[in-house]
Amino acid sequence: MPATTFSIEIERCKQSRIHEVDFEHLVFGKEMSDHMLVADFKDGTWQSIRIVPYQPLVLNPAVSGLHYGQAIFEGMKAYRLQNGKIAIFRIKDHWERMNLSARRLCMAEIPEEIFVEGMKQLVALDKAWVPKQEGSALYIRPLMFATDIYIGMKPSDSYRFIIFTCPAPPYYSGAVHTKVITQYVRACPLGVGYIKMAGNYAPTLLIAKQIRAEGFHVALWLDAKERKYIEEFSTMNAFFRIDDTVITPPASKTILNGVTRRSVIQLLKDEGIKVEERPISIDEIIEAHKKGRLREAFGTGTAASVSPVARIHYEGIDIYLPEEQEYIPMLREKLDAIRYGKVSDPYGWLTIVDA
Ligand code: COI
Repeated sequence: MPATTFSIEIERCKQSRIHEVDFEHLVFGKEMSDHMLVADFKDGTWQSIRIVPYQPLVLNPAVSGLHYGQAIFEGMKAYRLQNGKIAIFRIKDHWERMNLSARRLCMAEIPEEIFVEGMKQLVALDKAWVPKQEGSALYIRPLMFATDIYIGMKPSDSYRFIIFTCPAPPYYSGAVHTKVITQYVRACPLGVGYIKMAGNYAPTLLIAKQIRAEGFHVALWLDAKERKYIEEFSTMNAFFRIDDTVITPPASKTILNGVTRRSVIQLLKDEGIKVEERPISIDEIIEAHKKGRLREAFGTGTAASVSPVARIHYEGIDIYLPEEQEYIPMLREKLDAIRYGKVSDPYGWLTIVDA
């Protein structure tokens, strides 16, 4: 749906807060950059697209997004390239996924020019906030929620779209310990597990809290029907290397088809490594481990990048992954070489913001 008139009003902050931030000791998701983009969908059109100083929102308590869950988001990153330019990673893929989520939740779609041009202008304005430290990046959070003031079940006629950013280190500082969850499920067949909606995350928090107390970093979910096949981590897609083949659950209605997941599959294939997108059961993983064939396991995501798994726990069984890894460091190196502009961008994944 095209915006009727596309122009972005910019109100700059009076005083930057950047000097309050310790870039050497960043904490993920804590320090927001100076500005945010805001746009409103009203009367069938996107309007008043503006970049303003980052600030709290004033909301009517009856806005339907707070009640009935019409709330979606994306997670993206901008990197400081070796040549000093700033680039956003796979911007169009994230825009497409945001609209996939919007369509499923009966929300207004966001036009490409607002998402792409708006984000480029926002990131260019706050480019000083893009960290210089390798491994760190500017995390970008586009979100949209319903703003009709209405108590009752109907799709909202109005929406607010926001983009804000924060300088961020990798989500996990080391290899993760994961517990396979058998008492709850994350997503059901024919359900909404494949979209990036707030409602897919909230139900995992109770489990996250419980397993954190047991020393695990993240939950690993099984399919809802048989509780046998691996789906994904709460925060990442899942990959397993058995012998020299990398196996990942297939994109389906129950897992998020991650942008980092797709990037990693592409890089593996281009390295001549066999990748299978197919159901993989927890029994197959245990069996492979017993035979010494389970060589590596990792998660992928925008926030987590490529995160190695140190331990998988399932019903009293502990699987410790070998410390020696080959594919994980190779993938991190190849991905970072593109993201930080150390090599040419063979897949056209980068969008330069201030060319
Ligand atoms: C992301 O990877 O961007 C996410 O949204 C996951 C979240 C745990 C930060």
